[in-house]
This record gives sequence, structure tokens and C-alpha cells, in this order.
Amino acid sequence: MKKLVITGGAGFIGSHVVRLFVNKYPDYQIYNLDALTYAGNLANNEDVASAPNYHFIKADITDAEHIDALFAEHQFDGVLHLAAESHVDRSITDPLAFVRTNVIGTVNLLQAAKKHWAGKMEGKRFYHISTDEVYGELHDPKEFFLETTSYDPRSPYSASKASSDHFVRAYHETYGLPTVITNCSNNYGPNHFPEKLIPLMIHNIIHHKPLPVYGKGENVRDWLFVIDHARAIDTVFHDGKIGETYNIGGFNEWKNIDLVHLLCKIMDEKLGRPAGTSVQLITYVTDRAGHDLRYAIDANKIMKELGWEPSLQFAEGLEKTVNWYLENEKWLNDVTSGDYQKYYEKNYAGR
Ligand code: NAD
Ligand code: DAU
Repeated sequence: MKKLVITGGAGFIGSHVVRLFVNKYPDYQIYNLDALTYAGNLANNEDVASAPNYHFIKADITDAEHIDALFAEHQFDGVLHLAAESHVDRSITDPLAFVRTNVIGTVNLLQAAKKHWAGKMEGKRFYHISTDEVYGELHDPKEFFLETTSYDPRSPYSASKASSDHFVRAYHETYGLPTVITNCSNNYGPNHFPEKLIPLMIHNIIHHKPLPVYGKGENVRDWLFVIDHARAIDTVFHDGKIGETYNIGGFNEWKNIDLVHLLCKIMDEKLGRPAGTSVQLITYVTDRAGHDLRYAIDANKIMKELGWEPSLQFAEGLEKTVNWYLENEKWLNDVTSGDYQKYYEKNYAGR
């Protein structure tokens, strides 16, 4: 029997990974380890919460002693590490929070795995989920990020993720820890916290609020549906080669302003508003400091070596996303009101 700990499983991507693993692998015991920061929401795990192979552990990866004790107690044989401070804007105002969770938290997990797997590494796997932002920004439209591209992080967030990637590699090289790393492009889909571009725009369109576009909206991101990322994570966890890195992306580049226009169009149709209503909400605001111009992943390695490919076209994924937010108004309202943070007290505390 496999005992897997998925860190950050109450967050956006983590919750989709937890759902996929709980449902697809009934023989695995899945431990969702999450500190429930502002980004953690147990409502994201509601549909799997009563599954016999699902377990929730409230724990902070910056607490080395607690993490060590949990490894001793549960004897995990796989780690899928997604817990992180994930928002670039927050990293600009509070870089140390990113150092604590993304760097120190990752090293705490590596230490625990190294200690508890010593002499029995066979069959174990430490999978670190990272970002394309470690590669910096692209200017030449013909260029893509490859696994061999040099690291060039430019924000406190990407610097902290780059640092954690280096530590993961160092534990592989130095101690023989069986690690694998993936670097993925921008995800979108259900359960995305409405501080990020797509869910923020959806929320603001619904409520007739301004749509803040940074700078001139010329920055380019490569968007991937979150369930396709979860599928890639499943593939790499099971079939990826130890010590390797795989880039994951959608070959789906959009300028921010074009994406916001598309969202406005879809939302006007869905909400029965006259065409052209929502674009009037677009407001150009001061640019993000150090705003990376373009990210674009070359995902050929994972596609050719492991046979993964995105399953959804962007138009379909975006429509599914918009539908999800319109059908899950309570989720969105609970997040914006802060009520989602009472979920743990109501349902778990004292157990
Ligand atoms: P998220 O912010 O939605 O979720 C992060 C989760 O980690 C939350 O549940 C939070 O409670 C938990 N967490 C934060 N600090 C913690 C701590 N100290 N201890 C335990 N749990 C803690 O993030 P996300 O967007 O789902 O990203 C997940 C991972 O994927 C991150 O490592 C991120 O760097 C990476 N990533 C994200 C994207 C993206 O587009 N969102 C793309 C590529 C890679
Ligand atoms: O590339 C992967 C990364 O994608 C992940 O590692 C990060 O965790 C994730 O947050 C995301 O980072 P970005 O900074 O690209 O995502 P964000 O949604 O914050 O911004 C997307 C683009 O939209 C970016 O160019 C900034 C711009 N933007 C964002 C917000 C929140 C705006 O123009 N207005 C906004 O209000």
C-alpha cells in the first residue's frame, strides 16, 4: 500500500491533485497536509473528504519538528510537494514569507524524507512541483523555456521557487534522495483563488467592478487547464525518471489584454448582458514591479518521453472555468467574505 503525502492539497492545484489521486488510486492512502493559510480552503476537498483513503493533516511545513514527527508517525513513501506561497504580488510586499514557506519549508520536507527514508530509498519518491517563473522572462518570440534553460528568477516568488528547486536537486545529488521536479506554466480552472488574473476578472465582471490590467496588458502567459496539470503530475509521479526535470505547459500563449477581452465576451454572453458591457470595466493600472514580459514553455520532453499532452483547448477550458464560477457562487462569496476560513473550526477542530 502506498502512503502519499500531498502538501498544499487544500489550495488550487493541490486540491485537483488530491481529488485525482483519491479517486483514481483507492489502494493509496492520501494525506493532504496543509497549513490552511489564506490560500487553503477545505471546501476545495469537500467531495473527497469522506473517502476512506483520504486524510487531512493541518500542519505547517515551516515547523520542522512537526513535519519530522508526521513522517515518523505515518511512514509516507511518497511526497507530492505543492504547498507554497504562490502569488507574485504578495512576494513583492512580503518576501520573507516566501523564504519561510518556499525555501525553509521545502528543506524541512527534504530533511524529513532523507531521515525517514535512510537505507530504504527503493520505491520512494519526492516530487517537487515548481514553476516556469524560475527561468525568468522571454523577449524573442521564437524562444521557449526548455529544461536546460538557465535559471534567472526576477521576483521574490520566483527566487524562492528557484532556491527550493536547487535544494531538491542538491538532496538528490548529495544524499541520493529519489527526487523529480516539474516546472509548469500558468494554471487556470475551478477553485482558483480570486487574487489571480482569471478568477479576479470573473469575480469583478460578475460584480460590475473595475478590471485592473497591469501596465499596457502586453505581458504574455502560457495557460494550462488545472486538471491537465494534475494529469501531468500523476504521469510524472508514476513514470518520471528519478533526478529529472520536466517542463509542463499548454502551448497556449495569450497577451493579458486579449485574454481579458475574451473573458469579457464570454461573461457578457453567459450573464445575458449586451455585447461590449464588460470591456468598459477595463482599467489600466500601475504595472507590477519587475513584471516579467513573457513566459512560454516547451513541453516536448514530457510529451515525447512520458506521453502526456493537454486534453482541453483553451476555449473549452475557459468556458468550463466560467461555468464553474457561475455555478459555485457560494464558494466565491465565502472566499471574498472570509467565511471559508471557518471551515476547519466547524468540521475538523477537536477531532
Ligand atoms: P495556492 O496558493 O492556491 O495553494 C497553496 C496551498 O499551500 C494552500 O492550500 C496553502 O494553505 C498551503 N500552504 C501555504 N503555506 C504553507 C505552509 N507553510 N505549510 C503548509 N501548507 C501551506 O497555490 P497553487 O496555485 O495551487 O500552487 C501550488 C504549487 O504549484 C505551488 O508550489 C506553486 O509554486 C506551483 N505552481 C503554481 C502555478 C499556478 O499557475 N498556480 C503554476 C506552476 C506552479
Ligand atoms: O507561470 C506560473 C505562475 O503563474 C505560478 O508559478 C504562480 O504561482 C501563479 O500565481 C502565476 O503567476 P502570474 O504572476 O503569472 O499570475 P497572475 O494571475 O498573478 O498574473 C497573470 C498576469 O496578469 C501577469 O502578467 C500579471 C497580470 N495581472 C494580474 C493581476 C492579478 C494583471 O494585469 N492584473 C491583475 O489584477
